[in-house]
Amino acid sequence: MSDRKIIAVVGATGAQGGGLVQAILKDAQGGFAVRALTREPGSAKAKALAERGAQVAAADLDDEASLTKALAGAHGAYFVTNFWEHFSPDKEQGQARNLAAAAKHAGLKHVIWSTLEDTRKWVPLSDDRMPTLMGKFKVPHFDAKGEANAYFTDAGVPTTFLLTSFYWDNLIHFGMGPKPTGDGKLAFTMPMGEKKLAGIAAEDIGKCAYGIFRKGAETIGKTIGIAGEHLTGAQMAAALAKALGREVVYNAVTAEQYRGFGFPGAEDLGNMFQFYCDFEEYFCGARSLQVSRSLNPELQSFGDWLARNASRIPLA
Ligand SMILES: NC(=O)c1ccc[n+]([C@@H]2O[C@H](COP(=O)([O-])OP(=O)(O)OC[C@H]3O[C@@H](n4cnc5c(N)ncnc54)[C@H](OP(=O)(O)O)[C@@H]3O)[C@@H](O)[C@H]2O)c1
Repeated sequence: MSDRKIIAVVGATGAQGGGLVQAILKDAQGGFAVRALTREPGSAKAKALAERGAQVAAADLDDEASLTKALAGAHGAYFVTNFWEHFSPDKEQGQARNLAAAAKHAGLKHVIWSTLEDTRKWVPLSDDRMPTLMGKFKVPHFDAKGEANAYFTDAGVPTTFLLTSFYWDNLIHFGMGPKPTGDGKLAFTMPMGEKKLAGIAAEDIGKCAYGIFRKGAETIGKTIGIAGEHLTGAQMAAALAKALGREVVYNAVTAEQYRGFGFPGAEDLGNMFQFYCDFEEYFCGARSLQVSRSLNPELQSFGDWLARNASRIPLA
């Protein structure tokens, strides 16, 4: 253990960080050891990671001192914040500030910051194609992360900025899977028109991050976007139909309709999908499949992901 470089992983019990922990543990000869950071070291998930060989350290993103302590002695760290736990961009940015400060204090050699675009660089607040939300954002869960990139740069933390993509796992966990239409068919609802969505199996994000740590210094200061496939809603519906053995119709609602769905975060996500559509070429272009595969040779296509996960998609 002692000659291996320790990677501290925020979100180790979650989707992104969990994929990275598994990738490090699987590659016993890879030269890295993993330290899982969690608020609850006694949880079943944390204990399972410890049993598999991970160090486990208590840390809370709202508590900079706890982060500094948990990062001590590590070579690098993977940082992700969970907007959907609190829906507050200000809180997310406070956590990113704590992460940058703790990384600086701990003298980390390589940080990966899981970020997204500050969409206001493409759609300024004055642009009324989509509503401004919470007074100062277009896509709050994107903008907060993108704005926070500067915390790492300004603090002089050696950082790779990882642009993630839409998880296909949202079809399982986020209520975005196809739903019955009442006539025996399923409807897959997404406000993407004919445009392509950059999607990924959530676990592949962590696996790509592992590829970035393996590449090391050459990736510092770079922005790297990843995706498993770029697919239209119609292509996704066709793949779903094949995997589920049911007719699946693509229901291409407008972003305006989506914003009006009324569930928590619907406006944020409606704006996000509109951003994907209006800037499709940029967005997919920034998430090269070739680069993603070079970082993670096991990168899954949507079909691969469905073969493993279609039965987990709730259809009711
Ligand atoms: N869904 C998508 O399509 C998508 C796409 C791109 C980006 N994202 C972004 O992904 C982020 C969520 O990542 P995820 O999906 O990997 O999360 P997740 O599976 O929901 O798990 C959340 C993780 O964050 C940790 N965490 C949350 N608050 C913490 C705190 N205060 N201190 C320490 N750890 C904390 C949790 O650890 P413990 O509970 O063990 O402490 C847990 O491991 C969101 O910000 C979202 O915007 C999502």
